[in-house]
Amino acid sequence: MKRRALVAGNWKMNGSRDSNASLVHDIVFEIKRFPDIDVLVCPPAPYLDATGRQLEGSAIQLGGQNLSEQEKPGAFTGEIHGGMLRDVGCAYVIVGHSERRALYGESDRLVADKFSAALTSGLIPILCIGETLQEREQGQTEAVLARQMKAVLDGSGIQAFKQAVVAYEPVWAIGTGKTATPEQAQDAHAFIRGQLAAADAKIANSTRILYGGSVKAENAESLFNCPDVDGGLIGGASLKAGEFVAICAAA
Ligand code: G3H
Repeated sequence: MKRRALVAGNWKMNGSRDSNASLVHDIVFEIKRFPDIDVLVCPPAPYLDATGRQLEGSAIQLGGQNLSEQEKPGAFTGEIHGGMLRDVGCAYVIVGHSERRALYGESDRLVADKFSAALTSGLIPILCIGETLQEREQGQTEAVLARQMKAVLDGSGIQAFKQAVVAYEPVWAIGTGKTATPEQAQDAHAFIRGQLAAADAKIANSTRILYGGSVKAENAESLFNCPDVDGGLIGGASLKAGEFVAICAAA
């Protein structure tokens, strides 16, 4: 079965009202050329509402970069409830990005709780997993991916993946200009799909698995051509309209 591709731009902690408006202006028209794929942008939280309004009438969807694991709103200063993301028009939310795991101490358990909270709020979680360079060099890639998947499968169950996306992001490829080869990406994606298939083959076959890590216009096509790669989670290159549109064209 051919899965519908998803190209998601993770703007990380970049942009301003003016630069975001200009970026969205430049991609909205071009994206109309790709009706067969899903396109998503994930601005920083303060800009979600304005970006969502600018995207009204466009097929481009809106996503958050993070959410609270709390199931209910309340006294949690600085946190963002999934319902608030829904309220400003988000359909998706990134969960467990390696920057959050490494820089903000997010454990597998916390990521699993955030994944569950996203589903409870009606958001589609994009679960990020991936190994560090050291883990790859020590031959631990599959063990790391299996551990990160297991935490979420134990927490939410396989049925949750009917409404979820996985992003394989080797940490050593993020923002480094070093991209995984198509073979490395395909091997990891097939392994991740196998983890899902062990629980339910049909769900595994329909779950989208994105690749992220220094995707650019020049390498997107070879990555997206891999049978188990269903699109990309794009960081730096999603901040340049021409580059992002070219990546969408490759999907
Ligand atoms: O969320 C996106 C990934 O971290 C990839 O970032 O394309 O800048 O390497 P990058």
